[in-house]
Amino acid sequence: MDFQTALTSLFMPDGRLDPYPAYDVLRAHAPAFDTPDGRWFVTSHALTSRLLRDPGLRVADAADYDGFWPTWRDNRGVASIVLSMLQTNAPDHTRVRRAAAATFTARRVAALRDVIAGQAEDLVKAMPAEADFMTAFAYPLPIGVICALLGIPESDRPWFRQRAADLTAVLEPISTEEEMRLADVAGRDLEDYFIGLIAERQGNPQEDLTSALVAAAADEAALTGAELLANLVLLLVAGFETTTNLLGTGIAILLERPELADRLRADPDLAPAYVEEMLRYDSPVQLTSRSTTEPLDAGDGLTLPAGAELTILLGAANRDPARYPDPHRFDPDRTNIQPVSFGGGAHYCLGAPLARLEAQVAFPLLLTMLPRLSLATGAERRDRLVLRGYATLPVTTT
Ligand code: HEM
Repeated sequence: MDFQTALTSLFMPDGRLDPYPAYDVLRAHAPAFDTPDGRWFVTSHALTSRLLRDPGLRVADAADYDGFWPTWRDNRGVASIVLSMLQTNAPDHTRVRRAAAATFTARRVAALRDVIAGQAEDLVKAMPAEADFMTAFAYPLPIGVICALLGIPESDRPWFRQRAADLTAVLEPISTEEEMRLADVAGRDLEDYFIGLIAERQGNPQEDLTSALVAAAADEAALTGAELLANLVLLLVAGFETTTNLLGTGIAILLERPELADRLRADPDLAPAYVEEMLRYDSPVQLTSRSTTEPLDAGDGLTLPAGAELTILLGAANRDPARYPDPHRFDPDRTNIQPVSFGGGAHYCLGAPLARLEAQVAFPLLLTMLPRLSLATGAERRDRLVLRGYATLPVTTT
């Protein structure tokens, strides 16, 4: 494959099915390169790690959206994400992130272990002999866990799941007009719901994360009401399909490698290493974007110009042979894996400990409760540029 074919293939459905050969060609071309339309692509692990941590890079925020899409606020799905910490720069980002991190603590995540195990067990028990793993397990578990985290009552969860799924379109540059319309509707519905929940928790605080964030927002200087709302919606959308894809991709990797699945079944303590390697091998988030305002010395003789728009290919960095020998092999015995799948620097995934815990609990439990779980034919990937995963993953349990 030549360089131009590799670059073009990332923007074609067939290329997106398996982007890894194209990533190899692009990475061999350069750790970073620009294209005639002025966009920069970053492909190497070293440069990706360094740039994500560089305070000279920024995310597109509300002011940028005003410039290139003046009516963005009319789509409430887009607005909720643009107004969240994901699309906010310092100093506001630092302040909001501090408030959120102070409530979404390691202790709160650890306390969810039994909730995760309980929900996972219920889903396994309800799984038919022939099932779509995505529908039966990978979708309901993350949304159920986020709802428990936020204190959404059981009866509202199916409603939530559909809205959260519709809203995910805003994380995808290749979403269709119809998908964006549904994201707008979902954004409106979810904002209305959270406005009600916030009012309820103001009067009657519970042990949940919503109540903790509501308490933080009592000090407007720490977290404004608008920021509270946008970041509640963000938690729902950022933690859903990403984790779903880790669960779907991870189980497919295991079931394609029965000897490795047997090892994990026999020794659940291996789960953290397996999950890190799953994240590296087939990252649920394939890319992220940044830009420069000033010329930036990126090291190794590379200077990015002011106004450079960057596409950072996390999926390519995770298969960089300079960092991971034999990168296309799934090998949970690697040491010091540290994939860039959760990003890095100021915007490093706030939910990474929760996503890891869900996966570390789910895989050993699935293998033990369903010793005959195997892949059936008919698996299909979703055609996505950013969020990589399966649309359907047929399995049999007997
Ligand atoms: C940010 C990946 C699960 C909440 C991010 C970013 C990545 C990512 C790559 C950084 C984006 C950037 O720098 O542009 C993932 C993956 C997950 C996952 C692969 C699952 C396997 C979760 C969960 C939650 C969550 C479970 C919460 C319930 C967030 C939040 C941010 C974020 C709030 C924004 C942080 C900030 O801007 O400061 N995630 N995520 N994520 N993620 Fe996750």
